[in-house]
Amino acid sequence: MAEKRFYITTPIYYVNGTPHVGSAYTTIAADVTARFERLRGREVFFLTGTDENATKVYEAAQEQGVAPEAYLEQLIPVWKEAWRDLHIGYDDFIRTTEPRHVEAVQEFFRRLQESGDIYLGQYEGWYCVACETFWRESDVTDGLCPNDWCRRPVRKMTEETYFFRLSKYQDAILRWIEAKPDRLLPDFRRNEVVAFIKQGLRDQSISRPGEEWGIPVPGAENQVVYVWFDALINYLTAAGWPNDAETFQNTWPADIHFMAKDIFVRFHCTLWPAMLMAAGLPLPCRLIGHGFWTAEGRKISKSLGNAIAPGDLARMLSDASGCEPDVAADAIRYYLLREVPFGQDADFSFDGLKLRFNTDLANDIGNLCNRTFSLIHRLFGGKVPALPGGDSPVRDALKRAAETMAQEMEEQRYSNALQALSDAIKEVNKHLNDRAPWNLHKEGKTDEAAGVIAESLESVRAFTILYSPFLPVAAERIWAQIGAAEPLSAQTWDRAAAWEGLPAGAELPQPTPVFPRIEAPKGQKAAGKAPGAGKDASKPNKKASVPAPSEESGKPTVSQTEPSAESKDESNFISIDDFAKVQLRTARVLAAERVEGTTKLLRLDVEMGEEDRTVLAGIAESYAPEELVGKTVIVVANLEPKKMRGVVSQGMLLAASGPDGPVLVAPEKAVDSGSEVR
Ligand code: MSP
Repeated sequence: MAEKRFYITTPIYYVNGTPHVGSAYTTIAADVTARFERLRGREVFFLTGTDENATKVYEAAQEQGVAPEAYLEQLIPVWKEAWRDLHIGYDDFIRTTEPRHVEAVQEFFRRLQESGDIYLGQYEGWYCVACETFWRESDVTDGLCPNDWCRRPVRKMTEETYFFRLSKYQDAILRWIEAKPDRLLPDFRRNEVVAFIKQGLRDQSISRPGEEWGIPVPGAENQVVYVWFDALINYLTAAGWPNDAETFQNTWPADIHFMAKDIFVRFHCTLWPAMLMAAGLPLPCRLIGHGFWTAEGRKISKSLGNAIAPGDLARMLSDASGCEPDVAADAIRYYLLREVPFGQDADFSFDGLKLRFNTDLANDIGNLCNRTFSLIHRLFGGKVPALPGGDSPVRDALKRAAETMAQEMEEQRYSNALQALSDAIKEVNKHLNDRAPWNLHKEGKTDEAAGVIAESLESVRAFTILYSPFLPVAAERIWAQIGAAEPLSAQTWDRAAAWEGLPAGAELPQPTPVFPRIEAPKGQKAAGKAPGAGKDASKPNKKASVPAPSEESGKPTVSQTEPSAESKDESNFISIDDFAKVQLRTARVLAAERVEGTTKLLRLDVEMGEEDRTVLAGIAESYAPEELVGKTVIVVANLEPKKMRGVVSQGMLLAASGPDGPVLVAPEKAVDSGSEVR
């Protein structure tokens, strides 16, 4: 028999609006885990979908003046597109109006009726449509839903309905929880479940008479099945229950049900295990209830009208940074899982997202790639140097990072897993600084320089695999630049820290920065330098720059639009002979990095014909170092060398004064480096 698939689910979402950051959060977490498990060689079955038989879906359609079926047909493509844009690779998308599900629910209902766990009774109490939840008389004191994130008016119900004998399973559920506590995560939420069950469980009303929308109760066509009883069964339907025994056998039970805290205690950790026990089916291996994303302290939700669409966010981030929209979508995945431990609530801010983009993506992995690729081009003609065997601090750092990450991922501690990667990147960057291969190369220790750079490239290979569950598209973009013989999709987890190296001698393409740094608009500090500069998600930072005074003189170093003291004669003109003294030449940027201890200066290593030079330019607030690599610039070539911040600058770049800072001047067509400019 086939090995059991690793079965991961998200809640099925109510289709009474479009996806937002909150619903995306759960789906992204599930997707990251699915990708992680696939990378580890498991066959995964990842399910998401939509909960369509709810009263609130029906009422939303009515508000729009359309039939519920037509309303759903409009919205389902929007949900699927949102998941595609966020690179969600689900294996099945279930809709609860599909015949396969209607059949499964009716069969489940019949079986429990036959076993005596469903009976007809009289329901008297309250109902909250927003939460699709029944409340008992004593729960409601002020006519409002007791859920603190809801507090909307509840409706009084007196109806003859079917009941499920939930009370019968109280002790069995408690025993199930106690037998293996890490089934319910996080711990503090498990305690809430236990406390809730110990208060005493009452039988659950599971049908609604006189409703026009929903799955008919078998044999009682005037009633529909209560939407939660129907919805939970989706996890069985998609696993092939009740007709496809073979699929069911190698799929069920679910390995992880993902959701937020709102539907954890009452529905997934109480009603659901009891339903499965009543049907004689195995119980899920793990349920995890994460926190809420809030906007200014309020839960982000479709009905509260504070929903932020992930697609809009990706566009804003891509505009702010200049990164590819698909990379921006990856950055949103990263931010949501990195920002806060999985169980906690968090307040969403666009500034927070930009800050993470700069600190973790542009500075950590982006900068490591940038340095490594430009060193290979500058010192080794773009050819992959051979990886030395033996001990290496980089090798140790990778091994530790992969181990820690795996442990953290197994318990869905995504933020810690990513922290482990950032820590390891810092170690690799430090090693590179300490060994300074550019100096080794200058001193003629070419093999040593090659070894250090190869280690760094090997780390990029490893990190790209390790990050790929979180950043699937960005990882592909980096992978395309490392000279690997096989595609990223052919990699496995074990190979990340295997220290196997890349094919020596392979030619690397010209580097393309994947995470260009977001620069601050005039007068503001760039994200990554000043956290929390406001919480307005509607106003993205425009990519912009501050004019760049030189570190020493306070004057622009690149764009000398003011005439200099000598040339300022009475008429403000210079002679052609004066101009002929200035030698201007084209140069190609080989490497660029920030000058430590300054905010404005970049150090550029340029190739000017046969000659390599170092030029300092005050453009760090207008350009990210990695965007410059490979560009052709124009250099004042015969300027007296000048030492700034311990670095001798052998020239000056030409730039126009743009509205937001210096804009580099470049030839209009490709020319050789070192060409004269007249
Ligand atoms: N249809 C039910 C679930 C049935 S599962 C058998 C439902 N749907 S829902 O559309 O309201 O989605 C609830 C889920 O969406 C939450 O449990 C959570 O996974 C996600 N989130 C919705 N808003 C959220 C936040 N603001 N923050 C975090 N997650 C959020 O309940």
